[in-house]
Amino acid sequence: MDDLYPAEKIGEDDEETPPNMARVFDFNLGGTENLEVDREFAAEVDAVMPGMNALCRGHRRFSAAVVDHWCAEGIDQFLELGSGLPTVDHVHTRARRAHPGARVTYVDRDRRTVAHARRLLDGEEGVAVLHADVGDAAEVLAAPEVRDVLDLSRPVGVLAVGVLHYLHDDAAAARAVRVYADALAPGSGLAVSHLTSRARPDIHEWATMNHGGWSYAPRLREPGDMAPWLEGFTVVGPGWVSAPHWRADGEVPGPDATASGLWGVVARRVVARG
Ligand SMILES: C[S@@+](CC[C@H](N)C(=O)[O-])C[C@H]1O[C@@H](n2cnc3c(N)ncnc32)[C@H](O)[C@@H]1O
Repeated sequence: MDDLYPAEKIGEDDEETPPNMARVFDFNLGGTENLEVDREFAAEVDAVMPGMNALCRGHRRFSAAVVDHWCAEGIDQFLELGSGLPTVDHVHTRARRAHPGARVTYVDRDRRTVAHARRLLDGEEGVAVLHADVGDAAEVLAAPEVRDVLDLSRPVGVLAVGVLHYLHDDAAAARAVRVYADALAPGSGLAVSHLTSRARPDIHEWATMNHGGWSYAPRLREPGDMAPWLEGFTVVGPGWVSAPHWRADGEVPGPDATASGLWGVVARRVVARG
C-alpha cells in the first residue's frame, strides 16, 4: 500500500486532517484519541441522527463479548480485520484480561489510522498493526505482521467487525473470506458484523453520503447472502442477531441499538486448513 502518514503529524496541530472514521469511533466510545475536527463531526452527526453514540458502544460490546467467548474457549491469538484504533477495551486489552500473553494483529487500510495505532502500541509486545486492504487476503496472511505474531497452526479468533460491507464486490468479498477461512486451524473463530437492509432509513442514507473525504458507502448484505462465507464453520450461540444483542444478557446500550441494521454472527472452524 502507499506510504504511511507520518505518526508525528497526528495531533491537534495537524490542520489538514479531515474527520477520521476510527477517531470519530473512538470519541463515541468515550476515548481520548480524537481531534477537534472529529468531535465537531460527531456532534454534527448526532444532531441529525441521535443515537450514534449508543450504536458505536453496541458495536464495541459485540467485539468484547466475542473476545470473552473465545478466551473462555482457550483462544489466545486474534486477527482483527478493519480494526480502527486500538483504544477503549479493544481486542488486545480485552483478551489480556484472560490471557496476559495474548497476541493480536490489527489490519486497517487507512494510513492515518495505522500510523496512529502504531504510535499507541509502541513497545507493546505481541501486538502488530498491518497497513493493508482486508480484501487482499493472501497479502494480509503473508505479511510479517501476521506471520511473526500469530501461529496459524493453532486456533485464531478472526474479527471482521463492521468492515466487510466496505468490500463492494460480492465475489471478491466471498473470495477474501474463503482465503482467511482456509488458513485457519480447526477450533478457530470467525466473527462478522455487517450492515443489512434492516438499518433505519436515515442511518442508511447517512452512511451512503460522502463525509469530508470518506468514501465508505456500505454494500448492504443480508445474513442469507453471507451464508456461503460460513462453509466449513459451525455457527455458535444465537446465530445471526442484531450485533449489539449478541449474548447481551440484557446489557444492551440503548433502545436504538438495532437501528444501524448491523447484524452479527460468530462461528467456529470445524474443518482442517485448505
Ligand atoms: C467502523 S470502523 C470499525 C473498527 C473496528 N472493527 C471496531 O469494531 O472498533 C471500520 C474500520 O475499517 C477500516 N476499513 C474499511 N475498509 C477497509 C478495508 N477494505 N481494508 C482494511 N480496513 C478497512 C476503516 O479504515 C476503519 O478504521
